Amino acid sequence: MANSSSLFIRVIKLFIVLQLLCIYSLCANGCFTSIISFGDSLADTGNLKLLTSKQNQKPLHFFFPPYGQNFFHKPTGRCSNGRLIIDFIAEGTRLPLVRPFVTEKGSRMIGMRRGINYAVAGATALDSSFHAANGVQNPMTNSSLGVQLGWFKRSLPSLCAINVRDCKHFLGNSLVLMGEIGGNDYNHALLAGKSIDDIKSYVPLVIEAIISAVNELIDIGAKTLIIPGNLPIGCSAVYLTNYYGSQTVNYDNSTGCIMQLNEFSEYHNEQLKIALDQVRQLHPDINVIYADYYNAAMQFYMSPVKYGFTNGALRACCGGGGPFNYDASIACSDLSSSVCVHPNTYANWDGLHLTEAAYKVIYKSLFQGKYTTPQFNSVCASSMMQKRDRISSSM
Ligand SMILES: *[C@@H]1O[C@H](CO)[C@@H](O)[C@H](O)[C@H]1NC(C)=O
Ligand SMILES: *[C@@H]1O[C@H](CO)[C@@H](O)[C@H](O)[C@H]1NC(C)=O
Repeated sequence: MANSSSLFIRVIKLFIVLQLLCIYSLCANGCFTSIISFGDSLADTGNLKLLTSKQNQKPLHFFFPPYGQNFFHKPTGRCSNGRLIIDFIAEGTRLPLVRPFVTEKGSRMIGMRRGINYAVAGATALDSSFHAANGVQNPMTNSSLGVQLGWFKRSLPSLCAINVRDCKHFLGNSLVLMGEIGGNDYNHALLAGKSIDDIKSYVPLVIEAIISAVNELIDIGAKTLIIPGNLPIGCSAVYLTNYYGSQTVNYDNSTGCIMQLNEFSEYHNEQLKIALDQVRQLHPDINVIYADYYNAAMQFYMSPVKYGFTNGALRACCGGGGPFNYDASIACSDLSSSVCVHPNTYANWDGLHLTEAAYKVIYKSLFQGKYTTPQFNSVCASSMMQKRDRISSSM
């Protein structure tokens, strides 16, 4: 009895030492021990699907095949045919795929210290009440950034139960992914008939919501945060279809994208970058990383074939027909929709969202390339992914 209990104590001691090694960043890839994510459909790994089924609401089209077909081989609630940028980040940092915060009925939250995702497809940066007051109903969810942050704070006791210092350590060693968020504040309003000038007035409020979430996380202990900007929405099949044949928009000859909408995305991104500079000045010891989704994606809109998108970057792989294979009344996965044979040859998956192949290009440009400021590589110099790439590129 005495022997087995002293062995037990030794095992516990070893376990504690291993845990400490992990806390002090010697496990995983040597950079982060966890990923904490907020956002919308660009990062949702299942929250809206689980929420909808828990609340017995009508399932959305992206809960059905062919969503997920090319990697998970079943729909997971991700708005793509496979992995999202956040999944590639998890793989690249040697962490498990980031699990949704919402759990299935009756199941417990386990293993979430290694990553937890609060992103909900359709979510806005501003609360639904703001949009409702402006006459725009969110068709999918009321789980705005504020709601997600509330979930996070309420789950802190189960994430880092020991004490306040433990929470500081936990957050300090986590990679916080703040977004993309804000895209839907504009999307829902534009699709409800608001003009670009109308939504321009939202920009300062959206930026303020993002920055306030960033500041709150820094106050709790976050040390590395990635804040993505908006994608070039003028290249999305949804808007290309919406404005098709209209004389009110101009097209960029080199991409075929709608200039006014892309200029709007750039405007949002410029404002976000200015606000992030202010955060950096206040917190010089914190890694505040801007992720340039816009220009990372612009690479394949400019030269689709170079990235393998031999069917172009604008036409959706899955949809209900029309010049861009997008029809607002026939969603991808509806009976009368069709899916392309080779999704890797398309950048656009379902009109609004991108294919796994396109998300992979964006991921590589950000985390192994130069589309993050400061460069992620300099913050996380010992990334295994990077080492492996250096080896393969030197051969
Ligand atoms: C959002 O909240 C409003 C007001 O409480 C409610 O009427 C609406 O059904 C909610 N929408 C969703 C998608 O849950
Ligand atoms: C785009 O192409 C049209 C038609 O070929 C031309 O009239 C226009 O000047 C071009 N615009 C730019 C910005 O190059």
